[in-house]
Amino acid sequence: MLYLNGDYLPAAEARISAFDRGCLFGDGIYEVVPVYSRHPFRLDEHLGRLETNLSAIQLPNPHTRDEWRERILGVIARQPFDDQSVYFHVTRGSANERDFPFPVDVPPTVLIFAAELKSPSPEIKAQGVRAISHADFRWLRCDLKSLNLLPTVLLREAAKRAGCAECVMFRDGFLTEGAASNVFVVKDGVIAVPPKNHLILPGITYDLIIELAQQHGLPLQVRTITEAEVRAADELWMTSSTKEVLALVELDGQPVGDGKVGPLAQRMDALYQDYKDTVMRAGGAC
Ligand code: PDD
Repeated sequence: MLYLNGDYLPAAEARISAFDRGCLFGDGIYEVVPVYSRHPFRLDEHLGRLETNLSAIQLPNPHTRDEWRERILGVIARQPFDDQSVYFHVTRGSANERDFPFPVDVPPTVLIFAAELKSPSPEIKAQGVRAISHADFRWLRCDLKSLNLLPTVLLREAAKRAGCAECVMFRDGFLTEGAASNVFVVKDGVIAVPPKNHLILPGITYDLIIELAQQHGLPLQVRTITEAEVRAADELWMTSSTKEVLALVELDGQPVGDGKVGPLAQRMDALYQDYKDTVMRAGGAC
């Protein structure tokens, strides 16, 4: 069951106009929230980013936070699995024509659906995953979680064909992020991550990792990182809501550090899991 514009219905019965601007132009914003034991994790932070993104593209938010929460929990309750990945998006609706400027008096489209959450298994966590690199050929508003995902589709397909889990991107000689994740670098016991600006998505997991590093006294720098530093790193991690903290042990066929999951990746993943367990024991973050 999914939610579409006010109704909960089976996916096969959901109908969206062929002229929906999400379909024609990618004119909309989306979010992906992990759900553990039916509790959405960091939902408020995701709803905050949605609000910021919608106002950045001048699309009025159709719902208050409470309304969003109610609808998202409504979808979660209708799934057969406990751990889920909830996707939701808002598009600028359908004006039944293809015209670029904003349509007038057209309601937005709101879609919410859930899939079973496929977090990396303990074996994958322990082994790490491989990545390729690629020039970052996306636009200059990568801070927006927009529905224009063609670059991501192409980059992730390239990674898949290379037998890799992620694509690490560089722009003008500097690290930006992964195709669908943020990327952290470790050298000589110091963690580093690029600053939040128009070139990367401000990840909810990115923020949590910085918070956890601060709380537990792990040295972490937020600064620009060169491609050469990435290639000489002791550890590389990808982070996202669904992948959590996942070590990249190979980049473009070369081992990262000694080619094994490093001690700081293990420590940060343990801190992340502890934090998650504490939040969930307290009844979830919703
Ligand atoms: N991707 N950077 C990009 C380009 C992303 O697409 C994502 C998330 C992240 C990590 O953000 P967060 O920690 O808030 O999940 C960084 C999601 C999961 C996706 O598109 O499926």
